[in-house]
Amino acid sequence: MSKKYALITGAYSGLGKAFALHCAKRGFNLILLDIPGSATSSIASHLAFKYKVEAHVFEFDLTNTYEARHQLNTISEKFPVSFIINNAGIGGTSSITETSIERIEQIISLNIKSTVMLTRIFIPHLLKQADSYILNVSSMAAFTPIAFKNVYPASKAFISSFSLGLRQELSGTNVSVSVLYPGSIMTNFSVAKRIMSLGALGRMGLLSTDEIAAIAIRKTFSKKAIIIPGMANRINYLLMSLLPVEFKLRIVSREIKKETRVVPSF
Ligand SMILES: NC(=O)c1ccc[n+]([C@@H]2O[C@H](COP(=O)([O-])OP(=O)(O)OC[C@H]3O[C@@H](n4cnc5c(N)ncnc54)[C@H](OP(=O)(O)O)[C@@H]3O)[C@@H](O)[C@H]2O)c1
Repeated sequence: MSKKYALITGAYSGLGKAFALHCAKRGFNLILLDIPGSATSSIASHLAFKYKVEAHVFEFDLTNTYEARHQLNTISEKFPVSFIINNAGIGGTSSITETSIERIEQIISLNIKSTVMLTRIFIPHLLKQADSYILNVSSMAAFTPIAFKNVYPASKAFISSFSLGLRQELSGTNVSVSVLYPGSIMTNFSVAKRIMSLGALGRMGLLSTDEIAAIAIRKTFSKKAIIIPGMANRINYLLMSLLPVEFKLRIVSREIKKETRVVPSF
């Protein structure tokens, strides 16, 4: 049985589930985290049986700082994890006045606070392994501010900055940090509905969770800093880096505003 352990947050659905599959395929034992009642155990049993790996499930709310800190400390002491994937993240589209304070708190707490806390808890343990990897999931939304999303792109820009700073700080150690910037992914019904409401611009670079997870894991192990899956997204990134902020803000926000017509506000 393999002695390598990979930890994945938000492993029950979407991209997290695809990460779990690809880690198992590569022979990693799995530590799968998700919120209580997520039925992650069914995925764990399937992957453990199919790929002959261990699969441990921990269900707790990552935004509950006290409990999450306790659970993460326990997991980090118990399992020699050498690969962490900070995947769990939430967002949405609605005007700022129609977005509840509770929802804003949830986004900041999950996307930013829990990612930083988990990473900080595991780094001393990752430093003890032969080779370790951190893969943080940002988004193409990190490359421009976006009206009607506001907090989400800002949280993903934070993840980008945090990850690249950390990568520099840990250069020369055994820990490599990568950051993933997916474009739109049809992960669940409400995301699919939002994406389909957009024009061609919004649907540009659409890839499956399976394709994204495979690319991201391969490039993480080749120690690439910035991972932008798909040619269309890479072209988009180049354009984003050339265009003046006022211009891209106006164009992207105009497209995103269309989503508010199909998605109820939070
Ligand atoms: N979907 C896209 O178009 C897209 C594009 C770019 C980047 N991303 C990023 O990719 C990552 C994965 O996105 P996804 O669309 O695959 O998400 P998803 O399908 O909604 O899956 C996220 C997982 O995290 C879990 N989760 C939610 N809140 C949690 C909490 N407080 N504690 C622990 N687990 C929690 C969810 O459980 P429940 O389902 O039970 O809530 C779910 O299993 C996110 O960071 C997202 O920002 C997504």
